Amino acid sequence: MINTISILGGRGKSGGKEAVDRVDLKMGDVVSIVGPTGSGKTTLINDIELFADANTPTGRRVLINGEKPPAEYRDNPHRNPIAMMTQHTTFLSDLPVRDFLNTHAQIRSAPGASLDGMLERTLAFANQLTGEPILVDSRMTELSGGQTRALLIADATIICNTPIVLLDEVENAGINRRRALELLREHRKIYIFVTHDPRIALLSDYRIVMQEGNITGILHTDESERQLAIKVNRLDSAFSKLRDQMRQGDRLASAELEGLCG
Ligand SMILES: Nc1ncnc2c1ncn2[C@@H]1O[C@H](COP(=O)(O)OP(=O)(O)O)[C@@H](O)[C@H]1O
Ligand SMILES: [Mg+2]
Repeated sequence: MINTISILGGRGKSGGKEAVDRVDLKMGDVVSIVGPTGSGKTTLINDIELFADANTPTGRRVLINGEKPPAEYRDNPHRNPIAMMTQHTTFLSDLPVRDFLNTHAQIRSAPGASLDGMLERTLAFANQLTGEPILVDSRMTELSGGQTRALLIADATIICNTPIVLLDEVENAGINRRRALELLREHRKIYIFVTHDPRIALLSDYRIVMQEGNITGILHTDESERQLAIKVNRLDSAFSKLRDQMRQGDRLASAELEGLCG
């Protein structure tokens, strides 16, 4: 049973000691990692995925439940508690959605485990995240950006079914963010999003701030940011409506934005 992951600080790019020397992520936390390009976000989640033990360029260490994790976490795909999703994950595959998910389910699940209904549940989850339903016969490479992201999140949540999910810039265009967060919170996991999108960052419990390879701070989403998130969501839905109307070939009017821009 995994309750916490701890990141013990190492060094930044310049070799200086990391400003934050320990971060404890608890089961159920939704966390964002933010920072400019090149600030070390991917490096940080790679450290987590590798269960770094002062053996990566950052010198960081990762503990599970306060202790050095067992080697089998890394060595045995059925025991690995982490699912890592990047935008490159699906480009490896030109398979139909059905074969991609079935193959992935066979690799990730324990030998002999039943895969019954796995495909259907994964697709149902993905289809709650995206407005454009995914068909099992579509090829992975034919999916739109939104469909791909929805499928990746569903794959990580249902098929990998790991307590820890890492998403590296799996951005959210075409995804119903509020619904996504509700769904994610129903599954007790640690979700870690590398993101450049304030809409995602505001939905998380806190964000890890990166600069020049260093973890420079932890910002908890406070009450005023929660209020801001509500406004941002309204703007966001108004903007999606404009996009839908435009795609339908309609003329756009300012009515959608009335009262939103102050
Ligand atoms: N703590 C660190 N020590 C040494 N090199 C680092 C460190 N953090 C990041 N880097 C290097 O900096 C470069 C950019 O890091 P990356 O994690 O890809 O940034 P981001 O994902 O934020 O764009 C990479 O080459 C990475 O190896
Ligand atoms: Mg990156």
